[in-house]
Amino acid sequence: MNTSNSMISDLEKIVINKDEIEKRVIELGQQIKSDYSQNDSINEIVLVCILRGAVFFLSDLARAIDMPVIFDFISVSSYGDSSKSSGIVRIMKDLDENIEGKHVIIVEDIIDTGLTLNHLVEVLNARNPASLKICTLLSKPKRRKIDIKVDYIGFEIDDFFAVGYGLDYAGKYRNLPLVGALDPKIYSKD
Ligand code: IMP
Ligand code: MG
Repeated sequence: MNTSNSMISDLEKIVINKDEIEKRVIELGQQIKSDYSQNDSINEIVLVCILRGAVFFLSDLARAIDMPVIFDFISVSSYGDSSKSSGIVRIMKDLDENIEGKHVIIVEDIIDTGLTLNHLVEVLNARNPASLKICTLLSKPKRRKIDIKVDYIGFEIDDFFAVGYGLDYAGKYRNLPLVGALDPKIYSKD
């Protein structure tokens, strides 16, 4: 059995396939370019990638935005190795660049309760960016615990545990090229 098959067999189902992701990411990139090019004073966007889940999304999205972008990376802890939120949000690795006066887009893999992003938006807003928006590949609106404005959403999904295209369970499944629902048998073991 190859790696992909062994990962696929841990899924309950495939929810978003590779082509659907590719198509939607290109649409998001075009939308971002069109929104930001309406303001002549914006000649560069800072994409803040939330490690590690958003790395594939960042790399594909950046190439779909036809204007200058800068990357920066931040790492926050929220879930540890479990599929349940600990409610604790801690910055493990901060940005390298100063974002003051910059047009920033946070690039996230998934918004679940919204607690992580809400905290991060407060932290980054305190650094006085010229603007701050959020772009997430996935959103689970039914799970939201805090009302947070999300500017760009790839796909809204139901309440299941999503893996693939960067999203992990206990560090695994990130390299699946699609988004799947992890079989609850896998995570109910812990
Ligand atoms: P929130 O603070 O509840 O919105 O959780 C956000 C973070 O939890 C995301 O950045 C993910 O790292 C993780 N997370 C939430 N739901 C899922 C999921 O279905 N699959 C994988 N990771 C998830
Ligand atoms: Mg994350």
